[in-house]
Amino acid sequence: MYSFNYYTPTKVVFGKKTEDQVGKLVKQFGGKKLLIHYGGGSVIRSGLLDRIKAILDAEGIAYVLLGGVVPNPRLSLVYEGIELCKRENIDFILAVGGGSVIDSAKAIGYGVTNEGDVWDFYDYKRKATGCLPIGVVLTLSATGSEMSSSSVITKEEGWIKRGYGTDYARPKFAIMNPELTLTLPDYQTACGCTDIMMHTMERYFTNGGNMEITDSIAEGLIRTVMHNARILMKDPLNYEARAEVMWAGSLAHNGLTGCGSDGGDWMPHKIEHEIGGLFDVAHGAGLAAVWGSWARYVYKDCLLRFKQFAIRIMGVNDTGSDEEIAMKGIEAMEAFYREIKMPTNLKELGIEPTEEELADMAHKCAVGVGGAKGSAKVLYEEDMLEILKNAR
Ligand code: NZQ
Ligand code: ZN
Repeated sequence: MYSFNYYTPTKVVFGKKTEDQVGKLVKQFGGKKLLIHYGGGSVIRSGLLDRIKAILDAEGIAYVLLGGVVPNPRLSLVYEGIELCKRENIDFILAVGGGSVIDSAKAIGYGVTNEGDVWDFYDYKRKATGCLPIGVVLTLSATGSEMSSSSVITKEEGWIKRGYGTDYARPKFAIMNPELTLTLPDYQTACGCTDIMMHTMERYFTNGGNMEITDSIAEGLIRTVMHNARILMKDPLNYEARAEVMWAGSLAHNGLTGCGSDGGDWMPHKIEHEIGGLFDVAHGAGLAAVWGSWARYVYKDCLLRFKQFAIRIMGVNDTGSDEEIAMKGIEAMEAFYREIKMPTNLKELGIEPTEEELADMAHKCAVGVGGAKGSAKVLYEEDMLEILKNAR
């Protein structure tokens, strides 16, 4: 067991109609003039944006609007948001949407608070010293960005997707009403469940410092998400299942499932970020498409964790060699992905990268992680390329 810091300052307000409290929460955290940041229109179509505007009007809170955040949020809109906030003297950002909107809000928050080019932080050239306070009304259970320190942005020039994280960007509050996720397309629900599970699996497959209590939380969380993902595939309007998945999404990425470990592996995520950057795929689907290839490549170097995963989470029988049991666990996870209509390779994801594109992604990935990364197995550029090739 390694020593750890666990810091989750976000006030969570969970349940039906909790968005009605948005005005009071903004005031509680000192917001006087807001940027309301949102995506491509789902919050307009659902009426959520109008409801929030009416609540803020009633509370006498001023705001300006900036929509248009796309999945794999772009740097150009972040720049636009920074300029708008400076011009309008914005002191608080309200992100209404999924992970992309929240991440874009965090990037804008950094850009307003720190001098110079905000991309420097995502390029690991400098460290931020602050961020505008951020509040969230969550509409998609997936990334955990509503409680996490991280923000992932795509720079259009070169299509580079990079993450940056500091405690400054952790949202002040997160309003989580599972009803707001009832309008999600099945595909996004499945992508979200995949991402939530992966945030836990990334922290689970390590060669360093695991704790029993952390393992138990992680195992329960993954099993719970699998169970409720299956329910939602048949019954998307099931509130209880939406609620289970929503809370799991936050717990999976607020640090809880990594306490006492070496920090986790994170290579499936790093590889997916390159795929998302170049091919603009949905994050969860990209993860599912590379996970099997990654797992087969690394499992022998992390055998007992893969065996434990197979038995405790995937329900594999404890008979046969460790390798056989571990492999059955990997196959069972891939079968689950198919069950919820997630891809298990790049072709199923809908992309067929050329050799040059594979090499480009592996290279950018290696640069992005500073040469090598991984805990289940440390991976170098040639390993990343091999995993991408095997995922075709
Ligand atoms: O843009 P709108 O019209 O709102 O539509 C969105 C979008 O098309 C739609 N949607 C969201 N809520 C909805 C809805 N449609 C109907 N009803 C609703 N209630 O869903 C689509 C996807 O939204 P997006 O925010 O992109 O999805 P997600 O939450 O999965 O976020 C993905 C982004 O987050 C990053 C990913 O890499 C990706 O860029 N990540 C952020 C992390 C973090 N900050 O901690 C960690 C993750 O590992 C991840 O990398
Ligand atoms: Zn993720």
